[in-house]
Amino acid sequence: MEKYRLIKDCFTAYSFVFIIVFAFFISQQVAYSKPGHGEPPEHAQRFKVKEPFEIRNGKVIYLEHCAPCHGDTGKGDGKYYASGLEPRPRDFTNPGFMNQTKDEYLIEVIRKGTAAFGKSSYCPPWGATLKEDEKIKNVVAFLRTLYK
Ligand code: HEC
Repeated sequence: MEKYRLIKDCFTAYSFVFIIVFAFFISQQVAYSKPGHGEPPEHAQRFKVKEPFEIRNGKVIYLEHCAPCHGDTGKGDGKYYASGLEPRPRDFTNPGFMNQTKDEYLIEVIRKGTAAFGKSSYCPPWGATLKEDEKIKNVVAFLRTLYK
């Protein structure tokens, strides 16, 4: 009889352990199968990298040097200098102009300024500020994201 009780106790203990392990396993399955698991938490979402480096870099340069005239969104409505300029700073959201204009021209006009192309002298030459050609190319890559 004593032996029988021992076996029974052992069996109860094992079942108990088994149930706990099993419950843990199930809870893990449930936790990890929740939709969105593996996504960064919401407050970290804005740090998610969505655009390639050249566009992000071009945006930084644009916001620093070009947005005061061309506007944060590229509409040619920059806060600080645009008010009295005639002709107005180019509107980069206008697909008409942007579709007809090649990267090579944009790079050159940004490097040399509009005066070098028989236009007003309001858009300064950026070649000296943005010394590396990569930077001008990155700005152009960013300009290409402003219109559809
Ligand atoms: C001081 C104001 C000002 C700043 C700063 C400025 N622009 Fe301009 N931009 C203008 C004006 C004004 C025009 C229109 C000039 C014209 O048509 O005579 C223009 C025109 C342009 C054009 C169109 C040229 C064309 O053939 O129509 C491009 C491209 C351009 N800007 C790029 C840039 C970039 C890139 C930057 C920043 C690196 C920049 N601009 C900074 C005022 C500015």
